[in-house]
Amino acid sequence: MSTTGLVVDRGLEGVVVGSTVLSNVEGTIGRLTYRGYDMDDLAPNVSFEEVVHLLLYGHLPTRDELDALKHELASRRALPEPLVAAMQSVPKTAWPMDVLRTIVSGLALFSPANNKGEHVSDIHAAIELVAKMTTILASWDRIRRGLEPVEPRADLSHAANFLYMRTGKMPAQIEEAAVNTYLVLLADHSYNASTFAARVTASTRADLYASVTSALATLNGDLHGGAASASYNNLVAIGSPARAEAFVRDELAKGHRIMGMGHREYRVRDPRARHLEAIAQKLSNYRGDTNWYAIARSLEDASNKVLQEAKPDRKIYANVDFYTAPVLADLGLPGDEFTCLFACGRVAGWGAHALEQLHDNRLIRPQATYTGPPPGPFIPIEQRSVALTGT
Ligand code: COA
Repeated sequence: MSTTGLVVDRGLEGVVVGSTVLSNVEGTIGRLTYRGYDMDDLAPNVSFEEVVHLLLYGHLPTRDELDALKHELASRRALPEPLVAAMQSVPKTAWPMDVLRTIVSGLALFSPANNKGEHVSDIHAAIELVAKMTTILASWDRIRRGLEPVEPRADLSHAANFLYMRTGKMPAQIEEAAVNTYLVLLADHSYNASTFAARVTASTRADLYASVTSALATLNGDLHGGAASASYNNLVAIGSPARAEAFVRDELAKGHRIMGMGHREYRVRDPRARHLEAIAQKLSNYRGDTNWYAIARSLEDASNKVLQEAKPDRKIYANVDFYTAPVLADLGLPGDEFTCLFACGRVAGWGAHALEQLHDNRLIRPQATYTGPPPGPFIPIEQRSVALTGT
């Protein structure tokens, strides 16, 4: 409660700020649905393209509708040449999420409608952002390694084309399936922080590029999408499954959080973690030469044990970012690109949420309780001192 009697909800926890038909997170039972379809049914059965259609057009596509969407995605994959040149000109040490955010923002410069200030936000702009983000990520991945970007291929699925653009080689079926399911799992998650940021931006009637740029900036932090990269750093630091418990105890003793554990909404294990764990295990068996999955499994067990001892009244379980780390590590992605691939999935939801916001829009403008000094006299500069400036 503030001094004015208004209730301040720190972090908006439990506050309902809007409605959506796009996805539903049922935190107590651990269920996630996209437009009424349970993630447990979607994850093993659909392509990412079908989920993009479901979120943007409102229903799962027929074969003809899916073909049309795939065609449109493929036709929008290539990047404007100046943006590729821009990536080639930045320091190779640039943080991948900063590059992705900057180049996505730059896409607006190549939209004729935007350049007339018309701020068009429609399904096609949303599809364009879905299509191009994996191209940006794969191109940056190569450029930072001193390689030329690989042109996208129109005949490949979204997942396969991403892997192809990274390596220039056709991915194995198990790798394509892993990326596909990862993108399906990450595509939407109700009013999470980055999606809310996208909706706030859309509510001002800024365009879709602006909304997705806001969302990318918000996803970057390690309490949100940045946890995927941070979680990978933990696997590297642990090095072998036997060291997991000591690592967890050490982290908690230092006052750190275990990345990939805990969730604002889920009071049980994140339903997406189970699907990702299964993928991590399959990829680990397929690779045979890494132990990312074994370390992650051991880290989850150790975290459950130690967090239960340390915070018995909290319900802190593995979230989506936890098994993202072994999955993407076994696919050969560098740890600092994990949050970028998260964004490549979530952009489907960001676009759909921004359009949903615009469909029945009201400017999002909450209130804050003022806790500063009361109104007082203006102080001329010659009379000011450090003591008078306040905080
Ligand atoms: N490791 C250790 N302790 C954790 C924890 C974690 N991963 N997550 C939550 N806690 C503890 C907090 O320290 C706090 O303890 P306290 O009350 O004794 O101080 C308590 O649980 C509640 O934390 P709080 O930050 O208020 O809960 P929240 O609902 O805001 O937490 C997260 C949600 C995601 C911010 C939090 O679980 C977290 O920081 N997780 C790690 C980052 C992560 O994986 N983010 C990706 C989310 S998909």
